[in-house]
Amino acid sequence: MEDARLTQLISEMTLAEKIGQLVQLTPGFFGAEYGDVVTGPELNIKMEHVDIWETGSVLNLSGKGTLDQLQKTYLQKSRLKIPLLFMNDMIYGYKNVFPIPLALAGSHDEQLLESIGAFLAQEAAADGVHVVFTPMLDVVRDPRWGRVMESPGEDVHTVAAYGRSLVTGLQGNLSRDAKIDLHHVAACIKHYAAYGAVEAGREYTAADLSQYSLLNTYLPGYLAAVEAGVKLVMTAFTVVNGMPASVDNWLLGEVLRKQAAFNGVVISDYNALNELITMGYRDDDLAAAKAALSAGVDIDMMATIFANGITKLIAAEALDEALVDQAVLRVLRLKNDLGLFENPYRGFDNLGSEEEFTQLSQRATVESSVLLKNDAAQLPLASGEQVALIGPFANSPLTLGLWGSINADFSKVKTLKAALEAAHDDFTYAKGFNMYDAKVTATEMGSQFAKAESEAAQTDAELAAEALAVAASADKIVLTIGEDFLQSGEAASKTNLHLAPTQVSLIKALHALGKPMIGVIYTGRPLVLTDVEKYFDALLLVWFPGTNGGLAIREMLFGAATPSGKLAMSWPRSVGQIPLHYDSLPTGRPLTTANANERFVSKYIDCDNTPLYPFGHGLSYGQNNITCELTKITFNHAAATIELTCQVNSDTVAVEDVLQVYLQQPKQAAVILPTQKLVATKRISQQANHALTISVPLAELGYYDNQGTQHLDDGAYTFEVGLSSANLLTSGTVTVTQ
Ligand code: IFM
Repeated sequence: MEDARLTQLISEMTLAEKIGQLVQLTPGFFGAEYGDVVTGPELNIKMEHVDIWETGSVLNLSGKGTLDQLQKTYLQKSRLKIPLLFMNDMIYGYKNVFPIPLALAGSHDEQLLESIGAFLAQEAAADGVHVVFTPMLDVVRDPRWGRVMESPGEDVHTVAAYGRSLVTGLQGNLSRDAKIDLHHVAACIKHYAAYGAVEAGREYTAADLSQYSLLNTYLPGYLAAVEAGVKLVMTAFTVVNGMPASVDNWLLGEVLRKQAAFNGVVISDYNALNELITMGYRDDDLAAAKAALSAGVDIDMMATIFANGITKLIAAEALDEALVDQAVLRVLRLKNDLGLFENPYRGFDNLGSEEEFTQLSQRATVESSVLLKNDAAQLPLASGEQVALIGPFANSPLTLGLWGSINADFSKVKTLKAALEAAHDDFTYAKGFNMYDAKVTATEMGSQFAKAESEAAQTDAELAAEALAVAASADKIVLTIGEDFLQSGEAASKTNLHLAPTQVSLIKALHALGKPMIGVIYTGRPLVLTDVEKYFDALLLVWFPGTNGGLAIREMLFGAATPSGKLAMSWPRSVGQIPLHYDSLPTGRPLTTANANERFVSKYIDCDNTPLYPFGHGLSYGQNNITCELTKITFNHAAATIELTCQVNSDTVAVEDVLQVYLQQPKQAAVILPTQKLVATKRISQQANHALTISVPLAELGYYDNQGTQHLDDGAYTFEVGLSSANLLTSGTVTVTQ
């Protein structure tokens, strides 16, 4: 449909019908038979002026048959028969779930990420879903924040690359105004902006950042996705620099709509517009509605600010109806881009095969698992070794992480124990400790899982004794440790990032047996392992590894695959170091080996400055064999790139790893810039010696000063290439003249 026809349609709509298009509610409002998925606080909301059958979109309804049934009833009951939009929370999985985004981002494999986006889209689209609330592109530098698991991490380059790839895969490589075909969905990036910078990592607090930091670090990821054609943007609940993000004219009007020319749909987060009143920004629904509409919000998710406020505003002649029409047009355009006017029952039934998912998800787990430590090459395990497999994570389907998807099918999870059994490996299993914190309630856990846990209830002391007996007769111990899935995700902020005491005491007791011990870490966030890492010979971080995680972990443990993921966030030595990130700004009093004992230098007196595991870290089998020399570096004026040619040698050992290119602080800049900044990555998968070229887009040298002015300076630039931010192998300098 042309825009002119959509405008014509708007002219035929009553005010209530227009406002309805701007409201999103959960399925329960349409009838108890649709059930409800709760992804926010319980609310008692009532629409005063809009009929439920005028509402434009539905949050979190699943199942093709159910969606079709609601669409059919809706179309029968609504006067203008404008189809409903179905939007779902699907961050990194639908029924099938991939590893968490914090893991995936560390794969630095854009082609893999695009394929994952395409797979997710296919599963959601087949089920009749139109819009998915992913990717989450909040830069996070504070692992106390529970939602860090949904984020691509601390680095601006990584977040932007992740966002571009996911959006391209989900929407099908679209130009901005193109239609979305049946096998793809519209993507909604979130949470614009800077939700990941909530103060002290505490959920729903305010974020206070400089313009310098917003422009250089926090905004580019979202804007890269806008550039890639993303159709929707979700605002953050957060107050950012003293303004609620959902009504910030600068963030939404100036940066997003004007500078980035975003003409898609902006949706507020769950109840965020009502919370404008709770937080004291405005005192009634009229004022809140006016602020949000004027800033450029089009859909009010799970609040009645638009439903109740707009009618009163128009009656009081306090709002130009053209603003309402503009928002409705954006919503109708999205419905049109999805082809809903022609086919309200969008969907299909020739889904990709299970085999395709198995391969893609296993590759994803392998490429995003991080080998933190591997002393004396304890990994991979040799065949014939008798293994004691200990720890509940090895035998739990609850290792997908929270909010991977509201539809996650836990019954499909392949655990590590099941994978070892299927391969007839020589191992004995013991649970070792209880996975759940006693404070977790059955409701939080999901009743079926709570029941299973309580039926098997044994004390930690009994479990530890069993584990020690099993370990005593094994050659090597593989101990799964970490956090349970309710300890990260939304509303799971923590001040203590250490392992639970039951885990620590078991680690020490097992270590006392004097056998090689390999730790497999399941977690949604960086943990503090400073006191326990010394007890392990090897540590393999698998994050929340996805539906087929167990299969991939088995392959890595036995050497059929090499873990090759890199940390997308620094792992601190102490919570006191947070926020901790690799691209910090330089100080005039840097700590060096020569001045380490002096007082007036930038350091802690009770802890190293460095993280326990730095950004970009991740060993691989054979990494010690890799050498890299930067043999040529040139500025390609026509292509606006810096070209780096590297000679990478790996002798005869097959390697799978990620080369990382860091820009050193340029000395000609108008302001101080980070000491190092990731500007490009390249996965290597090779067995011999190769020369390879890495391109760095010129734009990566750009930055904003503290007044918000953009710069891209001529001058000399030094790049370092290595295997982590702290393991740099070679460097070179090039002069840029534009
Ligand atoms: O998409 C989510 C968002 O990330 C947090 N609040 C609820 C939304 C919808 O469920």
